[in-house]
Amino acid sequence: MPDAVFASARPSAPPSAPLTAPPAAPPGEGIPARRAVTSGENRRASRHWWDEDADEYQAEHGDFLGRADFVWCPEGLREEDARLLGDVAGRRVLELGCGAAAAARWLVAQGAEVVALDLSGGMLRHAREAADATGLRPALVQADALALPFGDAAFDIVCTAFGAIPFVDDSALAMREVFRVLRPGGRWVFSVTHPMRWIFLDEPGEEGLMAVNSYFDRSAYVEQDENGVATYVEHHRTLGDRLRELIAAGFVLTDLVEPEWPEGHEQIWGQWSPLRGHLFPGTAIFCAAKPA
Ligand SMILES: C[S@@+](CC[C@H](N)C(=O)[O-])C[C@H]1O[C@@H](n2cnc3c(N)ncnc32)[C@H](O)[C@@H]1O
Repeated sequence: MPDAVFASARPSAPPSAPLTAPPAAPPGEGIPARRAVTSGENRRASRHWWDEDADEYQAEHGDFLGRADFVWCPEGLREEDARLLGDVAGRRVLELGCGAAAAARWLVAQGAEVVALDLSGGMLRHAREAADATGLRPALVQADALALPFGDAAFDIVCTAFGAIPFVDDSALAMREVFRVLRPGGRWVFSVTHPMRWIFLDEPGEEGLMAVNSYFDRSAYVEQDENGVATYVEHHRTLGDRLRELIAAGFVLTDLVEPEWPEGHEQIWGQWSPLRGHLFPGTAIFCAAKPA
């Protein structure tokens, strides 16, 4: 959806957080459509979008995400409290779609050996600046989550908060890549916009309580320019789709966390709001393990 995610959320756009969901109005100025995209078109659009949006994204969401903090979602669930990754000290951890890599820096501070990967050089520039400012230095890698530049079994843990997974056309391939780079017994934990959010308009208010899209429409949400060239792409998968992709890759599902909206949390992030958050989930966090 569109309004992207914990992700994009431009100030003018109706909601969306680093986290994501379909919009009633587009996050950007592009013309919205639901249609098929090729992998190449998807990659070009994502790289361009996140490079262009990096400064605005960090200006808008940097304070919420913190300098060295691991926030799973706009509901504000933190790894410090949730402990979905288990003990990370001394573990080799890969953060996919790291953005400015606040989560990777938190992991470094906990004693993990961390690689933070992102498609966007613009996002990684923020990660470099924050590493200089904090002295917390994960290794930074610019690459595509669909072609991880690591050997088999290189990591104990792979994780992401709204990074990469909602933005790749072939999320089943992403699951297989993560499975490949994890050692047996390793964990894979990722958060995405809750699939049911895709049936609603991407609005934090009353308009966002009305179901208007089919939950079963898996065509990509695309914003395109006047020539029909994609400028932003985001993908919906049903809950069943996500589970099947994990299982087909070889994973065992260990938990599916649907963070509840905390009392007293008033901050709106795109389509994530107290109004909607008290009624239905905005984020799904999939916890999986590679069998030992
Ligand atoms: C919504 S942001 C999330 C960033 C960070 N995890 C956070 O919570 O703010 C999505 C990130 O995924 C990255 N991304 C998109 N497609 C990707 C891909 N194919 N491979 C790696 N990263 C990708 C974007 O560049 C962007 O930094």
